[in-house]
Amino acid sequence: MGLFNFLNRDIGVDLGTANTLVFVKGKGVTVREPSVVAIDENTGQVLAVGNKAKMMIGRTPGNIKAIRPLKDGVIADFDITQTMLKHLISSSISSSFLLRPRVIVGVPSGVTDVERRAVEEAAYAAGAKEVYILEEPMAAAIGSGLPVDEPRGSMIVDIGGGTTDIAVISLGGIVTSVSLRVGGDKMDESIIQYAKRNFNLLIGERTAEEVKIKIGCAYMTREDNELGNVEIKGRDLMTGLPKTIAFSTREIMNALEEPVHAIVNGVRTTLENAPPELSADIIESGIVLTGGGALLKGLDILLSEETGIKVIVSENPLECVALGTGISVEHIEKMKKKGYANKKY
Ligand SMILES: Nc1ncnc2c1ncn2[C@@H]1O[C@H](COP(=O)(O)OP(=O)(O)OP(=O)(O)O)[C@@H](O)[C@H]1O
Ligand SMILES: [Mg+2]
Repeated sequence: MGLFNFLNRDIGVDLGTANTLVFVKGKGVTVREPSVVAIDENTGQVLAVGNKAKMMIGRTPGNIKAIRPLKDGVIADFDITQTMLKHLISSSISSSFLLRPRVIVGVPSGVTDVERRAVEEAAYAAGAKEVYILEEPMAAAIGSGLPVDEPRGSMIVDIGGGTTDIAVISLGGIVTSVSLRVGGDKMDESIIQYAKRNFNLLIGERTAEEVKIKIGCAYMTREDNELGNVEIKGRDLMTGLPKTIAFSTREIMNALEEPVHAIVNGVRTTLENAPPELSADIIESGIVLTGGGALLKGLDILLSEETGIKVIVSENPLECVALGTGISVEHIEKMKKKGYANKKY
C-alpha cells in the first residue's frame, strides 16, 4: 500500500477567483497563490504566475498585462486559466510523481455545464489522469469538519473573492443553496466607489483590498471605534495629482454596506428555504463561515444578530475548500458511489 500511495499522489485543487490552492495527498497544501497570470501581449509569453503576477496588477507597462482569468467565481479566460492550472499543478507534482494524479477540483455551486467542462479540460491539460468536480460548498463543509454525511442539517457560508456560496447540507447532499456573485472583489469595488464619490480620489484594486483587510469591518464594537484611520494614496480626480486621504473604520464600514447586506440577505433566504427539521439542527449547531471574506471583522457578529443563530468562523477559512478537496481525494471510491463527484472518462 505504501509504495502504491507514493506512486499515486492524488491532488485536490481549489480553483478560486482570488486564490488557487493545491492539496497533495500525504503532503497537505503545497501551493497557495493568487489566481493571477502576467503575460507579454506582444509575444503571448507567460511572464509570471501567482504572487509575482499579482504584484504587477495596475503597475504594468503597455505590453505586459496582469490577468485574473476567473471572474465572479467562473472562468472568464479559458486559455489563461489552463496555463495557470498547468503551472500550479505541475509545480506541486514534481518528479516524485511517477503516475499521473487523479485530481478533484472545487467549483462554485452555480457553475454551468460548459464552465464545469472548461475546468475539467484545464485539469486534463495540466496532466491529470482522472478529473472529478466537487461543489465548493460541499468541499468547504468537509474541510471545516462539518458532519456532512449525517442526517443532520449543517449550514456553510463560503465567502470568496468572486462568489458567496451558501448551502444547507445533510446526508452527504446539498439540500438548498444559493451562489451569489458577491464576495471580496465586490467589497473592494465598493471601497473604490466610495473614495471616488466622497473624496474624488481614484484608488487601485490592490489598495482597496489592503484597506479592507486592514480596517474593513461589517459591525462595529466599541474598540473598533478606536481602530484609528488609515491613509489611502490615490489620484485626485480634479487635479490629476497624487493625493492622500485618511479613512476611518466607520467610513469603510459604510462603504461595505451593500455587499455585506447582500450576503446577510442570502443567508436569510437560504434559512427560509430550509426544511424545518434542518433549521432546528442549524439553530443548535450554528452557521459556519469560511473563505477569505469570513475574516472581515465583525461579519460573524452581524450575521448572528441578523439571524438570531450563532455563527462560527472556521479554523482556517482560506484553506477549507482545498482541505475539503484533499480529504475527498482520499475517498474517491466512496464519493463515486454516492454521486458527489462527477467524473469524465
Ligand atoms: N482579513 C480579511 N478581511 C476581509 N477580507 C479578506 C481578508 N483576508 C482575505 N480577504 C479576502 O478574501 C478573498 C479571497 O478569499 P478566498 O481565497 O476564499 O477566495 P477564492 O476561493 O479565491 O474565491 P471564490 O471562492 O469566489 O472563487 C479576497 O477578496 C480577499 O481580499
Ligand atoms: Mg473559494
